[in-house]
Amino acid sequence: MTKVSPSVLSADFARLGADCKEVLDAGADMIHFDVMDGHFVDNLSFGLPVLEGLRKALPDAYFDVHLMITNPLTYVKDFVDAGANCITFHIEASDNTRATIAAIRAYGCGAGLAINPNTPAEAVFPYLDDLSLVLVMGVTPGHGGQSFQTSALDKLRKLRAECQRRGLNPILSVDGGVKAATTGPQCVEAGATMLVAGSAVFCAEDKAAAVQAFKAL
Ligand code: DX5
Ligand code: ZN
Repeated sequence: MTKVSPSVLSADFARLGADCKEVLDAGADMIHFDVMDGHFVDNLSFGLPVLEGLRKALPDAYFDVHLMITNPLTYVKDFVDAGANCITFHIEASDNTRATIAAIRAYGCGAGLAINPNTPAEAVFPYLDDLSLVLVMGVTPGHGGQSFQTSALDKLRKLRAECQRRGLNPILSVDGGVKAATTGPQCVEAGATMLVAGSAVFCAEDKAAAVQAFKAL
C-alpha cells in the first residue's frame, strides 16, 4: 500500500494539532513538516517551536521533517530534540552531505535526501546505502499548490532501478503537485512508495477521504 505523508504547509495553522490528528486518524502514515528559511527557498514557514508543540500534542506521531534550509547540519540536533523521526535535507543546500547524513543517523533518526527539479537522480546514488528516504521534488520548493513537473517521474524510475540493482529499499517519496486522481498514480507507477500531499489533503472538503484516496493508490 502506498504511504501518504500530508504536508502541514497547507494546514490551518490556527488549529494545527487538530488538523494533524484528523489526518493521522484517517490513516496518514506520518506528518510532513516543511521548514523554510527564506534563503535556500524564497519563503518562510515554521520551525523548531512548532515541531516541539506538535510533538507534545501528538506523542506517537511520526514526523517527516523536510528541511528547505541552507546549512542543514547546523540544525540536525535541534530538530531531533524537537521531535523529528526522519530528517530530509536538500543535496543542493549542503557542502557536507555525507557528514549531515551521518549526524542524522547518529541520533537514531531516519535520514532523507531531497533533490530539486533541476538535479538529476544520479546525484543521490553515492549516498543511497545510508538513506531511509529519497525525496524527489515535483515542484521547485518553497510554495504549496504548484503544478507537478513530469521530470520527477523519470527520476523515480531511475531511483527504483538503482535501488533494485543494489538490493536497497529506502522510501521513494515525491513532493509537490501530487494529486490522488492524476499525478499520484503516475508517481506510484514510476516507483514512488510514498506520496507527500499538502493542498490535496488539507484543502480538501473531506480530509479523511483525501487521505484514503492516496492510500488506495
Ligand atoms: C513545497 C513543499 C511541499 C508542499 C507541497 O515546497 O515542500 O511539501 O507542501 O504542497 P502541494 O502538495 O500543495 O504541492
Ligand atoms: Zn515538503
